[in-house]
Amino acid sequence: MKRTLSLIFIFALAVINSYAQKAYLQTIGNTQQLVVNGKPFLILGGELGNSSASNPEDIERIFPKLQRMGLNTVLVPAYWDMLEPRQGEFDFSLTDKVISTAEKYNLKVIFLWFGAWKNSMSCYAPEWFKRDYARYPRVQTAQGKPLEIASVFSANVFNADNNAFSRWVNHISDVDNNNTVIMIQIENEIGMLESARDYSPEANEMFAQPVPEKLMNYLVDNKNTLHSHLLDKWSKSGFKTVGTWTEIFGEDIYTDEIFMAYHYALYVERMAQSARLAYNVPLYVNAAMNSRDRKPGEYPSAGPLAHLMDIWRCIAPSIDFISPDIYDKGFAHWASQYKSPTNALFIPEMRLTPDNGAQAFYAFGEHEAIGVSPFSIENADDAPDAATVKAYKLLSEMTPLLTAHQGHDYSNGLLFDMEDKERVIESGDLKMTCRHVFTLPWDARATDGTTWPAGGGLILRTSHNEYIVAGSGIVVTFGHKSESLEQKSLGEDGFAQKGEEQTPDTERWRGQRRIGIASCDEVKVNADGTTSFVRRLNGDETHQGRHVRIGVDDFKVLKVKLYEYNK
Ligand code: DGJ
Repeated sequence: MKRTLSLIFIFALAVINSYAQKAYLQTIGNTQQLVVNGKPFLILGGELGNSSASNPEDIERIFPKLQRMGLNTVLVPAYWDMLEPRQGEFDFSLTDKVISTAEKYNLKVIFLWFGAWKNSMSCYAPEWFKRDYARYPRVQTAQGKPLEIASVFSANVFNADNNAFSRWVNHISDVDNNNTVIMIQIENEIGMLESARDYSPEANEMFAQPVPEKLMNYLVDNKNTLHSHLLDKWSKSGFKTVGTWTEIFGEDIYTDEIFMAYHYALYVERMAQSARLAYNVPLYVNAAMNSRDRKPGEYPSAGPLAHLMDIWRCIAPSIDFISPDIYDKGFAHWASQYKSPTNALFIPEMRLTPDNGAQAFYAFGEHEAIGVSPFSIENADDAPDAATVKAYKLLSEMTPLLTAHQGHDYSNGLLFDMEDKERVIESGDLKMTCRHVFTLPWDARATDGTTWPAGGGLILRTSHNEYIVAGSGIVVTFGHKSESLEQKSLGEDGFAQKGEEQTPDTERWRGQRRIGIASCDEVKVNADGTTSFVRRLNGDETHQGRHVRIGVDDFKVLKVKLYEYNK
């Protein structure tokens, strides 16, 4: 009896403890997993538009909608100008409102510190800061044009920003009793616009200094794994280990960018250390992409971009990961650059589109992402049959299953559109040919000029010959790795479309192993990660056993068992 009681007591303590725990990242296999309230967590998020958290009534109005849409997390800006309207006088009422409203609607919060920089600019600095440009200097272009970008080289800028930031994080620590705040983003899309680097006298003086030893040592120690861009820049000097920025990396705007990245990272590291002391949750920075062939200064130069990852990693080790904001075409291309065993993929901003659900499945399947978040989420469709709502509902159900398999490369993501329609995945002897479901021309929308909705999903290997296929708008056929991809176009009934001359090839299949579908069931994922049968899919729904598919209007989980046969 005594033993049972003490076991119950220990168990209760463990439960209380897991709830009292702040969010953290843990390494599982070759990835990092986010843990919230003691359980692995996938952020099914959305970021508010820039001005949507400046009025308590807007917060009250928007948050219930987010809950209806199935979000579990909201990304919310914290505005320095409204937090410290007069120097030294703080107003945390909006922060409190966000936390209490999020709790009411069962949402977690990721706060975005809109401090010294927001999309490069310093528009969120308080008026007292903006007006006192003598004390809080701005950057300059090479022509001496001052920009509304606070100087990263100014101790006054750092002290003012960091003071407000620390006070705010300390306040969160005081009020966030239920661990509602799960992460903090420091600044927003840092970087220099109009000019790749600052040409103020302070900046020029620093630029003439030798590259600091800490960075040089990092380059030497990590030479084999450096990003090719940085390695290439360094090679220009024959891998010199002592010298000024231009002596080490050559003279161009990409060297200007490396120099600025070093100083932005240094600044952010000090901010991160302040935050960590006050409230220990994961910290990250987000980057505007260097897409469309733009050069440093045409995009925010020196931001936490993939090609500068080494600089950010070396100089800002207190930042847990760097994150891409993906607005341009090429979602898969951008996402892939921000995932590594030590950089969890979190996409804090993605362009709001009905394709976000498909993109989310891709990110979780391909990169074991810790989360995704469309931007200006308050403008999204909250109807129960809206694509993102359906996707989030299913991803929420699938979370225990997905997180239980993280870290072992058991899953792949699929993301298709009209141009990018096919992906072949090999797993041992198995070849999975995955396509957009509209490559089967049976739905009128496939061929009538309609822009195809994205097809997106994931394939998770759960055991030998057993796979979970989930998402929307995808079709997957299974074959032996040695089988060719060539496929006759068959009608929906599986019959040839028209009569054709037959060319028998009796040798081709001798001893050849073939893969068949033993069964395909639509399933539901239970809270413990196991699955329960919903219905058997066969006949027309699997093209008489030739493939498994999910239509563009559905989001489903299929459990597929395969078997092998030959003659
Ligand atoms: C990226 C920024 O990070 C957001 O705050 C917002 O400005 C969007 N761009 C575009 O509206």
